Amino acid sequence: MVFYFWHMGKAVVIGATSGIGRELALLLSQNGYRVGITGRREALLAELKDQAPTSFVAAAFDATAATAMTQLDDLVSKLGGLDLLILSSGTGDINHELHYAIENRTNQLNVVAFTQIAGWSFSYFKKQGRGQLAVISSIAGIRGNRMGLAYNASKAYQINYLEGLRQKATHEKLNMTITDIRPGFVDTSMAKGEGKFWVAPPKKAARQIIRAIERKKGIVYVTKRWQIIALLLKILPSWIYKRM
Ligand SMILES: NC(=O)c1ccc[n+]([C@@H]2O[C@H](COP(=O)([O-])OP(=O)(O)OC[C@H]3O[C@@H](n4cnc5c(N)ncnc54)[C@H](OP(=O)(O)O)[C@@H]3O)[C@@H](O)[C@H]2O)c1
Repeated sequence: MVFYFWHMGKAVVIGATSGIGRELALLLSQNGYRVGITGRREALLAELKDQAPTSFVAAAFDATAATAMTQLDDLVSKLGGLDLLILSSGTGDINHELHYAIENRTNQLNVVAFTQIAGWSFSYFKKQGRGQLAVISSIAGIRGNRMGLAYNASKAYQINYLEGLRQKATHEKLNMTITDIRPGFVDTSMAKGEGKFWVAPPKKAARQIIRAIERKKGIVYVTKRWQIIALLLKILPSWIYKRM
């Protein structure tokens, strides 16, 4: 794998304490990146930092907190700059009873905090004259779903927002890449519900994500064959879909 143009690059991974984000942070560090790692679980950040103490700068914070953007500013200062921001934090639950607290928790992170972080990144990279924002959305954003309504809707919001940012960057002739990563099932605590298939190990998902980031892709499905499911979801008529 060729990572030479990334040498001494600086990245932040939001949601690095577990799952896909943790694997992405490790891969970046192994490829010469200095990586700012965040998430709420401080002990897991410390454990990750121990794996490569000189590569990682850790800062535990809640992305939905009022102080989150100040903490992100501080983390980037400690890192000494930023070339790549990966947003891997996300939440969602199966919610048959439509409990508002569950839907709201999902929206606070996947919509409200996402919007703030995406806007912060766009402004930072615009000012700097270059940079890349990569967000782990989901194949769930393609259609609504009766089991996790806010989750799918929030991922649709992310996909749509990222498309808007990509258009804005192009329109303003900015040297900026907006990468929308849409996984199918990945074997983490987020893969919920029955009937899972094509479940990818997080390491494999992370490798494909890094390759897509490196190639400055706009949209990528992880693993690759989920592109087929995405296409089927898009063309499935609603009179069939609503009965599923
Ligand atoms: N696994 C799948 O099948 C799958 C499929 C499609 C898309 N995705 C997406 O992939 C992304 C990563 O999920 P994952 O599968 O790697 O699951 P995960 O292991 O549960 O990772 C979620 C990450 O989000 C962080 N997070 C949650 N709430 C946060 C908050 N309020 N502030 C800051 N960080 C927060 C968690 O850290 P703390 O708890 O320490 O804060 C954790 O690092 C998510 O956006 C998810 O929607 C996953």
